[in-house]
Amino acid sequence: MSEQTVDLVVLGGGSGGYAAALRASELGMNVVMVEKDKVGGTCLHVGCIPTKALLHAAEVADTIKEAEQFGVHGSFDRVEMTEVNAYKDKVIAGLFKGLTGLVKSRKIEVVAGTGRLVSPTAVEVDGRTIEAKHVLLATGSVPRSIPGLEIDGERVITSDHALKLDTIPGSVVILGAGAIGCEFGSVWRSFGSEVTIVEALPHLVPLEEESSSKLLERAFRKRCIKQELGARFEKVEHTDSGVRVHLEGGKTVEADLLLVAIGRGPVSKDLGYEQVGVEMERGFVKVDAYCQTSVPTISAVGDLIPTLQLAHVGFAEGILVAERLAGLAVTPIDYDGVPRVTYSSPEVASVGLTSKVATERGYDVVEATYDLAGNGKARILGTAGAVKVIASKDGPVIGVHMVGERVGELIAEAQLITNWEALPSEVAQLIHPHPTMSEAVGEAHLALAGKPLHSHS
Ligand code: NAI
Repeated sequence: MSEQTVDLVVLGGGSGGYAAALRASELGMNVVMVEKDKVGGTCLHVGCIPTKALLHAAEVADTIKEAEQFGVHGSFDRVEMTEVNAYKDKVIAGLFKGLTGLVKSRKIEVVAGTGRLVSPTAVEVDGRTIEAKHVLLATGSVPRSIPGLEIDGERVITSDHALKLDTIPGSVVILGAGAIGCEFGSVWRSFGSEVTIVEALPHLVPLEEESSSKLLERAFRKRCIKQELGARFEKVEHTDSGVRVHLEGGKTVEADLLLVAIGRGPVSKDLGYEQVGVEMERGFVKVDAYCQTSVPTISAVGDLIPTLQLAHVGFAEGILVAERLAGLAVTPIDYDGVPRVTYSSPEVASVGLTSKVATERGYDVVEATYDLAGNGKARILGTAGAVKVIASKDGPVIGVHMVGERVGELIAEAQLITNWEALPSEVAQLIHPHPTMSEAVGEAHLALAGKPLHSHS
């Protein structure tokens, strides 16, 4: 069939793929993007955006339920999931329209269909071959399961199904306490479900600073979100009304639903990658620090490569590839410097190293923690939590870890601090606006610089 030669063909139109396509076309490259579903990918359609819409609806529900503590009387009636979903879908539709308009205005051709890599410089879609100087693989990830745990889409579900539910489960067991498990646990609890989170490791959000995990655990306990930590899943059986989840050691938990949130695996099977000689590792595409694969004409970005599975990482990798291919000087991404946010209530946000990793890497670690109880705005909002700052002794800040409502909005400042390698004393000089939650960031640095204001040294 017809052959077409372009500068870049992008396989997959999610965060990584479309960011590369947009930047490449901005730099004068001729780009074709192949997408089997909808441009925007997981993040826009079944990930970041819809879940954050649900979390916002959950916050609104909690605000109504808790209004009396602010002297405001009203009554909580109900959450109508079909209407929540309509709001969520409207948000997605608006962003999708904007994104497709942007892609069109940059003259990127979007080819609908499932593409396959057929040579180091070609992708085939429904019998059509697109030849390109460069190929970018950006086929993303899907929820994964474990052997013997069958996802039926009704009682045993993944986040994909959870986003489509038009009723609120009476009770739910969530397997996995990463970002997905904690965010859905938070939403459903706000909507009235009985929630049990099962996590194999000893803590919720186990990759975070241990003190952040503990603060989240405490906050979730207060919200009556049950937690089975250090608990290994054994099996699930269907009951008359739902599921019975068996944990190793004999404990069982019954619920209407089981949400499996134990990670996402790369989409790389049967797409021709190995056949063309692209080196793989556990299903992920291996890349160098510039997102180039073992085949010089082929790059890969996003959830498909073994870096942090975050939309903003995909964007950055996509931009890096486009700029490299256009001949610009590029710098490898410092993955430690990427901010991470779990948007549960309360939120958990961090950037840089945890004290455990910093110690393992040989840093002589010093740290200070500022409790949000001393922060005026946090008291006004009624949120508990803390900001913890980690620095190397007599050196720069190397990690910031926060828990509390809205701390996700504070992490950008912490990102500048760690990535610019600021000293605690330099940050302590900066005046933060009063009363804001951002003062807690300032106060933690004041404490670390040896001059605490609203905290004890
Ligand atoms: P995850 O890898 O972050 O967390 C999965 C959790 O499941 C881990 O804590 C793991 O120890 C636990 N686990 C694994 N097997 C288990 C078993 N058999 N029994 C009990 N626990 C078990 O994966 P998650 O939450 O599914 O998210 C997938 C990806 O998407 C992650 O990379 C995550 O960071 C990203 N994501 C990011 C969000 C954000 O930035 N706000 C939101 C949602 C997802």
